[in-house]
Amino acid sequence: MNRISIYPGSFDPVTYGHMDIIRRASSLCDKLIVGVLRNSEKTPLFSVDERVSMLKEVLKDLDNVEVTSFDGLLVDFVRSNHANSVIRGLRAVTDFEYELQLSQLNKVLYPEMETIFLTTNLKYSYLSSSMTKEIASYGGDISEFVSPYVEQLVKERIKERKR
Ligand code: PNS
Repeated sequence: MNRISIYPGSFDPVTYGHMDIIRRASSLCDKLIVGVLRNSEKTPLFSVDERVSMLKEVLKDLDNVEVTSFDGLLVDFVRSNHANSVIRGLRAVTDFEYELQLSQLNKVLYPEMETIFLTTNLKYSYLSSSMTKEIASYGGDISEFVSPYVEQLVKERIKERKR
């Protein structure tokens, strides 16, 4: 059986926490598709296309991982890619309520699909894209949170925004 999983999210920007989940999830399936949500209401630091290209760069050594963007409902994206599961990372108990609701709603919308939760490596349990952006916006060091490539892009974008 060809097991295709989807790892959806905003990835604005991709952190070491995401990369850890992606690496571990990729060993559980034949193909992992990282899906960057297009219809997010948040004001992003990077465009969806920039986030897709950033993800492709930092994940280029993982042979069975693809990166793309999607619009609309997650279940429709899952269905159209013939995937059978969605991966979500759980950092702390504060993530749980939202993730439980999301997975239960998705199960109603698409009963054949499973949500698989991976607990975040303790090393990254405190990490989020939004905190990373906040720290960078005040000139803090984000080298523990994102790859050097992403760090450079975040710094440049924040500098541009401050002009
Ligand atoms: O990493 P994020 O930003 O918390 O990811 C949230 C995501 C992309 C998983 C979620 O917002 C999503 O699936 N959005 C697509 C629309 C959808 O299907 N919503 C769930 C049913 S209400």
